[in-house]
Amino acid sequence: MVTLETIRKPVAEDLEAFDGFVAQQFNAEGELLSDMLRYALSSRGKGIRPTLVLLSALLNAPSPDGGAGRRAYLAALLVEMIHITSLIHDDVIDEADTRRGKPSVNARWQSHKAVLLGDYILARTMSIGMTSGQYDLVTHICGTMATLCEGEMLQSDRASHRAMTRSDYFDIIRKKTASLIAVSASAGAMAAGAPRERTTLMHHFGEALGMAFQIQDDILDYTRTARTGKPANNDLREGKITLPLLAVLERCDAARSAELLDLLGRCAADDGAVERLQAIVEEEGGIDAAAQVMHDFLARAAGMLAEYAPSESQRSLIALCAYVAERDR
Ligand code: IPE
Ligand code: IPE
Ligand code: MG
Ligand code: MG
Repeated sequence: MVTLETIRKPVAEDLEAFDGFVAQQFNAEGELLSDMLRYALSSRGKGIRPTLVLLSALLNAPSPDGGAGRRAYLAALLVEMIHITSLIHDDVIDEADTRRGKPSVNARWQSHKAVLLGDYILARTMSIGMTSGQYDLVTHICGTMATLCEGEMLQSDRASHRAMTRSDYFDIIRKKTASLIAVSASAGAMAAGAPRERTTLMHHFGEALGMAFQIQDDILDYTRTARTGKPANNDLREGKITLPLLAVLERCDAARSAELLDLLGRCAADDGAVERLQAIVEEEGGIDAAAQVMHDFLARAAGMLAEYAPSESQRSLIALCAYVAERDR
């Protein structure tokens, strides 16, 4: 079993310095806003994106003991804050009451305040970026903010029509998740001054990794034993057709498909329907089919790292690919 601790090892000191950098940059005016900000920033996630930025910066550094430096910290801050904002807003959209094992911001303070907190974090992030003067990184990273919204909008549209195709699904997860993970990998390379071909290669690596990451997230939503710190089966309750269900639907005839979609329609208000549909997806091989697709993406991602000579950071990034498939949180 690969652990995050092993993966982080080559950049452990940089990650600590990065935490200090975030704490120094983020302090809010006003009691309510500072309470909310402290709450949102203190519940720690896995930190995959900053880890990826720093590992990619190390992998692409001109000398192995170059150290990450301020540009890499800035890139890590930009991606992690965009990510945190997207989670705060996503929990409003998904009406999710739990995040990272604690009440979500919307559950604790109501949705309208959660929306404002997300906007505040994003506004501060933009301002930190602009003040830094590192316009290449800011332009590269902040372009994904629109892409994330496009992905969430497309997903919301498909859920309300209860219709999904495989190409729609890939388009949604590429936009809402893989784009930011791709940018984390490429921004790390850019921060280290890597040539354009390497930045592009890291972008493709991150995109394949990010597709796998979201597919595993969608699998974990179906998995009772997961330790995600998020509500279980929330995708079904929200009427979302993710890859495990889609894989089952693709194999059904029209009548059975209509039956399953009708069951999905009842999931919002009926726990029995959620349980039945979750059991059907599992029994009919939907989880296994999704896992197969995820492994294909991971194999592609790991293969791209063969362009680099073996090193500690390269091994960590390969381990990160394995972690995405093994993770249960
Ligand atoms: C959750 O991302 C949202 C998805 C893109 C699946 P993470 O699983 O990286 O969330 P944290 O930051 O570790 O909580
Ligand atoms: C990923 O989708 C959301 C973002 C990219 C913000 P999900 O809705 O599946 O994420 P979780 O499961 O709530 O973390
Ligand atoms: Mg969600
Ligand atoms: Mg999810």
